[in-house]
Amino acid sequence: MDAVAPIPQSTGQATLGEVITEARRLLEQAGIESAAQEALWIVEHVLRLPVHHVLTNRDRVLSRTELTATRGLLERRVGREPLQYILGTQEFCGLEFHVDPAVLIPRPETELLVEYVAQRISAEREATIVDVCTGSGCIAVALARLRPRAHMIATDLSNLSLNVARQNAIRHAVGERITWLEGNLLGALAGQELEGQVDVIVSNPPYIAQAEWATLQPEVRLFEPRGALVAGPQGTELHERLLQEAGRYLSPAGVVIMEIGAGQAPAMRQIIERMAKYRLHRLIYDEAGLERVVIIERAGR
Ligand SMILES: C[S@@+](CC[C@H](N)C(=O)[O-])C[C@H]1O[C@@H](n2cnc3c(N)ncnc32)[C@H](O)[C@@H]1O
Repeated sequence: MDAVAPIPQSTGQATLGEVITEARRLLEQAGIESAAQEALWIVEHVLRLPVHHVLTNRDRVLSRTELTATRGLLERRVGREPLQYILGTQEFCGLEFHVDPAVLIPRPETELLVEYVAQRISAEREATIVDVCTGSGCIAVALARLRPRAHMIATDLSNLSLNVARQNAIRHAVGERITWLEGNLLGALAGQELEGQVDVIVSNPPYIAQAEWATLQPEVRLFEPRGALVAGPQGTELHERLLQEAGRYLSPAGVVIMEIGAGQAPAMRQIIERMAKYRLHRLIYDEAGLERVVIIERAGR
């Protein structure tokens, strides 16, 4: 990777307009698609100014501290670190979530899981909902806000993720409403006396096949936690294990809602067919028209 050229001039001074132009050029050179937008966001973040202010004050001279800070963030982005880790935030279901390299950056398609659960569980219902593989806590926190009477449990293998998720829950005033459990899939529920009690198991588990890892864009491959993304040789291994474990905890009308990767629907159908206790209720498609969410119920309902 080429070193980042210094932001202008020999005098060491630069105006906002010059910095934005230079930032855009550096990001474009680094192959970043939305270079113009990201340049503005980075400058806006450093100066703590809204974008319109940044745009209407192009002649303002930046202080040395501001210039150094902007250059530092640009260097990270040129190195292909995701903007969300640099700015420390990602929006999900209309809420701002703190993100750092301990957690996967929430993706827009994951909102489909939240929307479906909210559609299925009415606001008055005191349902028990388990978010398995909670990561940043985005699903659990969004659901706790949308369904104030629900009993929310969130699990993850990673203690570092759970710490981020807890912070996010506190930030959105649902810290007291979610039980956080560390453990391997539903193994985390051991001793909680939830057998036959869970109305919804919702999960966005890792689903990248091992061989696919090398093909991912650098932002993902070099910076996001591999353990949050890669499952096994097929990509559907954790879905299958989760289904095997779920039977013990689901209530008679309980449902399992899982995100899947592009092209994994046929494999999921086969997995479900092999397990007599389940049936595929429906698939939900994302904006790109890809099968993205599987809804699985107990057979014989
Ligand atoms: C794809 S991320 C999903 C994070 C978040 N729910 C979201 O949708 O943005 C998967 C998460 O599963 C966790 N994880 C991976 N393997 C696990 C396992 N066997 N048991 C529990 N959690 C696991 C990772 O630590 C990571 O936080």
